Amino acid sequence: MSGRKGNPYEKPDARSKAAKEQGFPARSVFKLEEIDRRVKLLRGGQRVLDLGAAPGSWALYASQIVGPSGRVLAIDTQDIRQAFPPNVKVAKGDALELANDALGEYGPYDVVLSDMAPNTSGNKVRDQAYSFELCLRALHVAQALGKVGSHFVAKIFMSGDFQTARKAAGECYERCQVIRPEGTRQQSSEVFIVGMSLKKAAGR
Ligand SMILES: C[S@@+](CC[C@H](N)C(=O)[O-])C[C@H]1O[C@@H](n2cnc3c(N)ncnc32)[C@H](O)[C@@H]1O
Repeated sequence: MSGRKGNPYEKPDARSKAAKEQGFPARSVFKLEEIDRRVKLLRGGQRVLDLGAAPGSWALYASQIVGPSGRVLAIDTQDIRQAFPPNVKVAKGDALELANDALGEYGPYDVVLSDMAPNTSGNKVRDQAYSFELCLRALHVAQALGKVGSHFVAKIFMSGDFQTARKAAGECYERCQVIRPEGTRQQSSEVFIVGMSLKKAAGR
């Protein structure tokens, strides 16, 4: 659906162009870059799980920071056509359905990222509910597959459920904050819950 001004998500803006010029497929790279700059998330040698990785900007950014001794497992329901260095493995699948064994190929992880988001349906309540479900799934995966001391970043659409997700993350991590990166489109209700230093890995 596009109104008089068209769909803003389809318009290549300055950030989209800058991302392409720097070799990234999407402008979302600047959100992770800002979060990384602000909380010092990524460094050389880390193992990273990237949930909702298509078209591949976060996985490519993470792969460059973790370097050849690090590993990135990139998961999405969609095909990812981006070319990556050898430290990245791509797997197609639904993070809500994949077993933790499949998600844990490079685990235990130092960082679990989730930029997972619904394909917006136009039904705001349904999209918010799905975003909440994706965020909680990412948190459960991070608890199960993250090292003690590992970090977590997950997108969530603002809704009445937001505080539930924020509280759940706050209980798992030593420090928890909410970041809305500068690169977020004005009309978007998305924010990122950032948990630093996992207190206790679930089941271990
Ligand atoms: C905003 S995009 C991610 C952009 C990506 N971080 C990047 O930098 O290129 C959101 C992605 O979440 C994915 N997604 C949504 N639900 C998912 C699920 N249940 N399992 C895996 N991926 C999912 C979508 O297919 C979509 O590619």
